[in-house]
Amino acid sequence: MARVDVFRIPTRISFGRGVALTLAEPLLQVGAHKALIVTDKGVLRAGLVAPLEERLRVAGIAYEIYDEVVPDPGWGEVQRCFERAKECGADAFVAIGGGSSIDTAKMAAVLLTNGGTVLDYVGIDKVPKPAAPVVAIPTTAGTGAEITINSVIADPEHHKKLVVISPNATALFALEDPEMTRSLPPFLTAITGMDTLVHAIESFCSKNSYRLTELLTLEAIRDVGRSLIRAVKDGNDLDAREGMLRAVLTASLAFSNTRLGNVHAMALPLGGWCHVAHGTAVAVLLPHVMDFNRAAAEDRLAAVGEALGAKQGGKAAVDFVFKLNETIGIPTRLGPLGVSDEQVPSMAADAMLSGNILVNPRATVQKDIEALYRAAL
Ligand SMILES: [Fe+2]
Repeated sequence: MARVDVFRIPTRISFGRGVALTLAEPLLQVGAHKALIVTDKGVLRAGLVAPLEERLRVAGIAYEIYDEVVPDPGWGEVQRCFERAKECGADAFVAIGGGSSIDTAKMAAVLLTNGGTVLDYVGIDKVPKPAAPVVAIPTTAGTGAEITINSVIADPEHHKKLVVISPNATALFALEDPEMTRSLPPFLTAITGMDTLVHAIESFCSKNSYRLTELLTLEAIRDVGRSLIRAVKDGNDLDAREGMLRAVLTASLAFSNTRLGNVHAMALPLGGWCHVAHGTAVAVLLPHVMDFNRAAAEDRLAAVGEALGAKQGGKAAVDFVFKLNETIGIPTRLGPLGVSDEQVPSMAADAMLSGNILVNPRATVQKDIEALYRAAL
């Protein structure tokens, strides 16, 4: 049979300034009686939740707030959020925050309809029933958790990041509102923005990419090229904020359908073993992996460079990304972040287990991954 390209979009996406304020509409659409707002204390303190609560009150939708989301949530924390939803009788979730809040809500919603714990659903297509409705409102322009069919949950005991990939474990609605990202501080803007760029570049260069995903990712790379430095320098530049959020949308639609590559395979162990923030990990690794991939994907990387506004050729694209990291204040090396040479072999062994290695444009063995970690140390 000829190749068939499948494109899945389980989430209904609304994009535009002010769209977060419409959050009652999707909840009414699905007949929700009570919503659990899943967020963290920083987002609450930034005043991002209060105007949305007001909209729920006006619409007569009961709600409670769970504000105990932590960065890199573990499966025990998801369990706690789920217990809270059960106790208060919530039948829907509103996630307001970054990838951690959204993934916590997505997985708590899976537990509400499927039972069990996160550990029962790790892997591809292991979630039998659709999750309870989740309305996801991102406050970062980065992970794409509001759109993707992936959730990343930590297993702290085994120093692992667990990945659940299922169209039944997604947010039902994503409200993409650039205004909600306005208060994100410069460093978080930088690392979440780089995560988006890595999603776009890895999807574009992936062995699984095809015309539709290529169009989306090239546009995402162009948007990042135009917007990321501006959004870091001036958080109130709403055009730049909108450009970054649009890049999240296009990159996430694509990578949900192609998977990623070596950067993401290598970033998970850095989070699991060394607690390096995901965005920092992928940003530091990206130019090294791009350079490694030039031997198999020079033309692709040249196209990446062109979309970013770099000079011609794959080498120019690599240099551009090194410079971009420096301009937006991202650390250049992993060593100062607490990563040591002795950890490299076990992290490389973990990275090799990722399905992302198989779709990386250049065939990769464990020795290559070890060399890449060491190049970035
Ligand atoms: Fe990522």
